[in-house]
Amino acid sequence: MKQIEMNKELREIFSQPSFRGRVRFNEPMRLHTSLRIGGPADVFVIPDDISSLRHIIRTAKELKALLIPLGGGSNILVKDKGIHGIVVSLRAFKSLGVEDETTISVDAGLPIQRLIAFSKNKGLTGIEGLVGIPGTVGGAIAGNSGAFGYEIKDVLLDLSLINKRGDIALYDVGDIDLGYRETHLPEGSIIVSAGVRLKKDDPVDVSKRIEGFFAERKKTQPIGERSAGCVFKNPKGEKAGRLIELASCKGMRVGDIEISRVHGNFFINRAKGTAEQFLKLMDMVALRVRRRFGIVLEPEIRIIGC
Ligand code: EPU
Repeated sequence: MKQIEMNKELREIFSQPSFRGRVRFNEPMRLHTSLRIGGPADVFVIPDDISSLRHIIRTAKELKALLIPLGGGSNILVKDKGIHGIVVSLRAFKSLGVEDETTISVDAGLPIQRLIAFSKNKGLTGIEGLVGIPGTVGGAIAGNSGAFGYEIKDVLLDLSLINKRGDIALYDVGDIDLGYRETHLPEGSIIVSAGVRLKKDDPVDVSKRIEGFFAERKKTQPIGERSAGCVFKNPKGEKAGRLIELASCKGMRVGDIEISRVHGNFFINRAKGTAEQFLKLMDMVALRVRRRFGIVLEPEIRIIGC
């Protein structure tokens, strides 16, 4: 379907009273990514409730349009020509419900740091290492975020997913394949919420660990800069940041994208960097590391768009 026709049809659908939420056309994705990079998405939707989200999913299927769920935008690189399709932001889904002393139900759009703060306040252990990770619970689950030996998968009980027909199903975490920085969800499905189980612990100990990991992160990573976190996965038995440093790549720059001098696996957007520059720098680094060590670096960030 032609873009103009699709937009017209979507405008009609989204103006129905049964749809609750906000819709923007031709929305620059740089406004929604931690890198501040990314061309326009044809359509950017923020549904307010599940039935509106289901509506969007079904509409995308009918129109055969690409549908991309967006969490905090902190682990993605959106290309400069943008996204030819519908981006759906889950930011309105952000409740945290307490089921019992250690079991919590969290919506996909809840910032992951809200869950860490909750665990700190209640003296619950299991996710301390995730302190300082930006983004949402849904995004953290979709990429099985981890740090300091902790991974989100270790505290998950179950996931509520919406499939591409708009139906919701509950999956036991054992039925989902979660690996190092990757989660294999049933094709086309979107995470809407998750059950999390933590363990009771001494609140002072939990706090100390959280503060310790945060201090370590501040020391070793360029937090506060415009980045998408680690660009490459750590190869088996190696550390991408170390290899990048040994290949003398720190400080290398293409346009406004620069490799951090604090941590080699972080690329910083210094001003008006583009996805093209970012991808060029990734290629240059990967080539240098491959030539020097014979190791192929694989992207950790998700690269999306045209
Ligand atoms: N190192 C260097 N030079 C550098 C960076 C690191 O020599 O520029 C060395 C360090 O000295 C250390 C080793 O490499 O000996 C590992 O470094 P670090 O402890 O910083 O951890 P990492 O393996 O580079 C991983 C995750 C991070 C996570 C940290 C903390 C990946 C790709 N990265 O980094 O996750 O925060 O551990 O546990 O798995 C992310 O996923 O976006 C991310 C940043």
